[in-house]
Amino acid sequence: MNKPTILTGDRTTGPLHIGHYAGSLANRLQYQETHEQFLLLADSQALTDNAHNPEKVRNSVIEIALDYLAAGIDPSLSSICLQSHLPALTELSMLYLNFVTVARLERNPTIKEEIRVRGFGRDIPAGFLCYPAAQAADITAFKATVVPVGEDQAPLIEQTNEIVRRINATAGGRILPEAQAIIPKAGRLPGIDGKAKMSKSGGNAIALSASSDEIRRAVRAMFTDPNLLRVEDPGSIEGNVVFTYLDAFDQDQDGLAELKAHYQRGGLGDGKIKARLEAILQELIAPIRTRRAQLAEDRGYVLDVIRAGTDRARERTEATKRDVVSALGLFQL
Ligand code: TRP
Repeated sequence: MNKPTILTGDRTTGPLHIGHYAGSLANRLQYQETHEQFLLLADSQALTDNAHNPEKVRNSVIEIALDYLAAGIDPSLSSICLQSHLPALTELSMLYLNFVTVARLERNPTIKEEIRVRGFGRDIPAGFLCYPAAQAADITAFKATVVPVGEDQAPLIEQTNEIVRRINATAGGRILPEAQAIIPKAGRLPGIDGKAKMSKSGGNAIALSASSDEIRRAVRAMFTDPNLLRVEDPGSIEGNVVFTYLDAFDQDQDGLAELKAHYQRGGLGDGKIKARLEAILQELIAPIRTRRAQLAEDRGYVLDVIRAGTDRARERTEATKRDVVSALGLFQL
């Protein structure tokens, strides 16, 4: 029996944080037994808005591989592969760009939002505007049908499927499968300051490699209900970052429901809810931190894992490239 294929990945722009964990890493851990899984260290995509800072992009390759392995990605079940070393991805991207319009790329909600956040104005790197076609190449080169990602990536999967349908229509057959995004119910985790996006550059993230001190400080600084001034005051759950994180990480959902009710009634201060969250995060991250430190000592092993994964991925993606080139009716030598 062939297992269904998963392809997903992360831009190599810094170590992963607990938003990545809740957003897709937890799903990837869950699927690695039942699916054939490829995890892409997306360094070429990282370059689309970091061309001026290749050092960050390069150094983050090992950092993210360490995060994967420390979190429990098993290299005998999942292949960790390096995007820039898979030429078929770049070649397919170039072909796919003929099946998407500039207007459609500009309308992609993820791209629109990222252009706004980065303040590109009209000075958008062409590679950045076009990265949805490259992401379609990533996904389809593996013939992946399942893509575990955070909520913000959904429009990219939608656009991938549009490209797939156009290519299949042109080829007159089902050359490429459509893919389904797997998105966590909890939605995207905000930053500890309550801002919509958790990011390392925003200084509002908790890294998967955070020290216990960093975790403590981050939870203490977390945005709650600004109107709750005394313990007796009724508190609000809405927009309260501590509860948003508890929703994502607390296994005891009944206990959490009681806690919420108490907080809303009044009589429960921020100290108590923060203590509960901190204990949960310390417990989640401690074993990851320990494994990560051990693995970081053995860079050779991590490199071997990436090399082996990239070799497996190369075979897979080259085969798809040959299929697509021939299905599109290009001349065969
Ligand atoms: N765009 C993803 C991110 O920003 C990274 C990524 C690259 C990806 N290629 C992918 C995700 C393919 C899923 C599938 O983190």
